[in-house]
Amino acid sequence: MVIIDGKKVSLDLKNELAVSVAALKEQTGKAPGLTVIIVGEDPASQVYVRNKAKSCKEIGMISTVIELPADTTQEHLLTIIHELNNDDAVHGILVQQPMPKQIDEFTITLAIDPAKDVDGFHPENLGRLVMGYLDKCFVSCTPYGILELLSRYNIETKGKHCVVVGRSNIVGKPMANLMLQKLKETNCTVTICHSATPNIAEFTKQADILIAAIGKANFITADMVKPGAVVIDVGINRIEDASTKSGYRLVGDVDYNGVSALASAMTPVPGGVGPMTIAMLLKNTVQSFQRTHGV
Ligand code: GUN
Repeated sequence: MVIIDGKKVSLDLKNELAVSVAALKEQTGKAPGLTVIIVGEDPASQVYVRNKAKSCKEIGMISTVIELPADTTQEHLLTIIHELNNDDAVHGILVQQPMPKQIDEFTITLAIDPAKDVDGFHPENLGRLVMGYLDKCFVSCTPYGILELLSRYNIETKGKHCVVVGRSNIVGKPMANLMLQKLKETNCTVTICHSATPNIAEFTKQADILIAAIGKANFITADMVKPGAVVIDVGINRIEDASTKSGYRLVGDVDYNGVSALASAMTPVPGGVGPMTIAMLLKNTVQSFQRTHGV
């Protein structure tokens, strides 16, 4: 069984991006800039935002974090987004989700200039992705990271049956559409399963490539997987574990011990898909800079 090492690939990618950023600075005298907005004090979001900022700086990009109080109005947030849309030094804008109740996520998503939407959440970007214009959109970071892993591990996808479990706008829907495209890394027959699918195992057992993005700890068990399948685990779930210092540990949507015994390749949690998400965010921001400057 091949362990698909997202941590290693993300480090390779960051090293490659650092070289690109240095060359772009040399060429233009400027650096790509990513601004992340966080509203409120959700501890998990704070960790994610800190990691994004750290990674930006590591590869020579400009990172700005705007921290707003939990009672920020939608109007105030929209004003800030409009300013960033018009700021030439900002190439990527990301508003960390989830947002407090008084803020409508879709309104915020629509307000971000699609040319700076490095999350790939804007309907303009998701629509272009569905239509296959991948070089003219931003691909949302988690599905993009999974494509990169499949590609770097030379996993054959053409004509294979890919089953995606989960239908979120951020992962499931873009992922399924990417796997459907006529690309080297994809070109699959695709099935999407979700919480209202009866007998999910009947579908998952047919998967040559199984992508689990459900958000339920250890949901995919060995009896649901075809021997030899490639299994991609998008889940990051906290479960209680008294033997650890923090009292919890992270597990995926796939029962790693059971499934790794019969899969041909598999991503671990942590260290699989997770680290790739930030790396692809950096890649999208570099790409935004290149498009803006025509380089
Ligand atoms: N919250 C968890 N993951 C993400 C992400 O990729 N982008 C944004 N904006 N919020 C998130």
